[in-house]
Amino acid sequence: MSGGNKMVTVWLITVAVVLVASVGITVTEAQPEANFKCLTENATCRSLTDYTSTNSTTLKEIATLFGVKHFLDLLGANNLPSNTNNSYKVNPNQVIKVPFPCKCSNRTGTSNHVPRYKIVPGDTLDAIARVRFAGLVKYQQIQTANKIPDANNITAGATIWIPLPCSCDLVDGTSVMHYAHIVPMGSSIQSIAQQYAISQQTLLSLNDLDDPKNLLAGQLLDVPLPVCNSSIKSDSLDFPLLVPNATYFYTAHECVKCKCDSTGDNKNLQCEASNLKPINNWSVCPSLKCSGSVLLGNTTSTDSCSRRVCDYTGYTSSRNISTTLATQNTCAVAPSGSGDSGSGASRSMLNGWVLNKLLILIHFLILFVYLLSYNSQHLCSFSFFLSMD
Ligand SMILES: *[C@@H]1O[C@H](CO)[C@@H](O)[C@H](O)[C@H]1NC(C)=O
Ligand SMILES: *[C@@H]1O[C@H](CO)[C@@H](O)[C@H](O)[C@H]1NC(C)=O
Ligand SMILES: *[C@@H]1O[C@H](CO)[C@@H](O)[C@H](O)[C@H]1NC(C)=O
Ligand SMILES: *[C@@H]1O[C@H](CO)[C@@H](O)[C@H](O)[C@H]1NC(C)=O
Ligand SMILES: *[C@@H]1O[C@H](CO)[C@@H](O)[C@H](O)[C@H]1NC(C)=O
Ligand SMILES: *[C@@H]1O[C@H](CO)[C@@H](O)[C@H](O)[C@H]1NC(C)=O
Ligand SMILES: *[C@@H]1O[C@H](CO)[C@@H](O)[C@H](O)[C@H]1NC(C)=O
Ligand SMILES: *[C@@H]1O[C@H](CO)[C@@H](O)[C@H](O)[C@H]1NC(C)=O
Ligand SMILES: *[C@@H]1O[C@H](CO)[C@@H](O)[C@H](O)[C@H]1NC(C)=O
Ligand SMILES: *[C@@H]1O[C@H](CO)[C@@H](O)[C@H](O)[C@H]1NC(C)=O
Repeated sequence: MSGGNKMVTVWLITVAVVLVASVGITVTEAQPEANFKCLTENATCRSLTDYTSTNSTTLKEIATLFGVKHFLDLLGANNLPSNTNNSYKVNPNQVIKVPFPCKCSNRTGTSNHVPRYKIVPGDTLDAIARVRFAGLVKYQQIQTANKIPDANNITAGATIWIPLPCSCDLVDGTSVMHYAHIVPMGSSIQSIAQQYAISQQTLLSLNDLDDPKNLLAGQLLDVPLPVCNSSIKSDSLDFPLLVPNATYFYTAHECVKCKCDSTGDNKNLQCEASNLKPINNWSVCPSLKCSGSVLLGNTTSTDSCSRRVCDYTGYTSSRNISTTLATQNTCAVAPSGSGDSGSGASRSMLNGWVLNKLLILIHFLILFVYLLSYNSQHLCSFSFFLSMD
């Protein structure tokens, strides 16, 4: 290798490192253990986690691994059609969102004693954490949760539970579904905020990140997904009925199907009869209506910015599903607390982001062409040009 080529290599590496650092995109490093704040002692709710396996697998295997009792919950969280076969193939490194029950205790949220895992001969706590559960927890967290005195002495045949990170806290005074998102390589706080329609400030403060550049690929980020507004009552067994955008959820023993689709201005949960056979100990679904001919999900009147709809309000253990005629707002409501004025701000942010990347790419190309066609004596003047950028 000639001296000039070496210089070129060193230069490219240096510039790449500087650029990666300056735009705050993620690179892989050793991951810290994830602990999500959960301040309402004993609160319970549904939560989500990403899962990705290095091997190909099926939805059924994922449901079994995570103890997802109702297969429709897994389909709904991923917005897959409700008739999807459970042997649906999941490719290596494909990301699947797994729903699970969350409980707050001691200011930290963890899955509520699920998933359960039976130790097989040859297992180590570390392999269970890193391989079987894809690094969603550290072995120390499994050890503490299960009060295992010696991490190197675990008993084959014993069943332990895996404390997945989660939360039930409101964010900026609003109900959200907390989602443990595995930060993809090359993403940034800005791109994640953009993708899930959350303010960057909210993401940073929720995760105690002082600087967006401290984000690491592979780390679990607490992403508070916006959910649809519903008429659920606080004494219903499925309260607070958190259904994030672009997902659906079967509730009330699967008698009711609710979906959240905030593509337009309507950010209300839409619930209707599922026409499925009920699960658990209900033999048939009760009738789902507000009055004689007004069935669950029917609209009785519409206005420019509102409508009257027969809405789901909850269920009790005595095969009782309640409904109400609710007035729903169907025009865009500015998200509280985020302080921006709707999509205009985020759109211009996106343009800025794209422009930024484009400029960087152009600089790269100029540099590359330059270094290939000139000798090393010219490098000093070029580096001066770059540093003025
Ligand atoms: C939380 O639950 C535990 C166990 O059920 C109970 O001892 C404790 O008093 C509860 N704490 C609060 C704040 O409700
Ligand atoms: C799923 O597909 C397999 C074969 O592709 C079939 O044997 C099985 O019955 C299907 N299961 C369901 C629940 O449809
Ligand atoms: C609660 O968490 C603190 C540290 O965060 C720990 O010192 C304490 O032992 C925990 N208490 C319980 C009951 O787990
Ligand atoms: C993937 O396959 C390898 C080889 O069969 C196995 O050792 C490993 O435990 C598997 N990983 C998972 C997450 O199932
Ligand atoms: C491992 O734990 C079992 C009890 O769970 C105990 O009987 C055994 O002595 C321990 N072995 C070692 C090497 O500490
Ligand atoms: C959410 O729905 C409830 C009940 O239908 C209603 O009182 C409230 O104003 C709605 N909130 C928003 C932001 O639309
Ligand atoms: C809801 O999800 C759809 C489909 O993924 C997306 O087009 C839409 O922008 C999302 N809405 C909000 C408010 O995030
Ligand atoms: C049905 O099961 C629920 C718990 O799943 C229980 O609370 C309820 O009492 C049961 N009802 C009947 C009629 O057995
Ligand atoms: C009322 O809801 C039922 C069931 O969802 C639907 O089949 C029917 O078309 C609706 N009627 C009106 C008038 O919207
Ligand atoms: C269902 O509950 C409501 C109030 O929550 C009550 O008015 C109604 O009588 C109950 N219906 C049945 C069949 O238990």
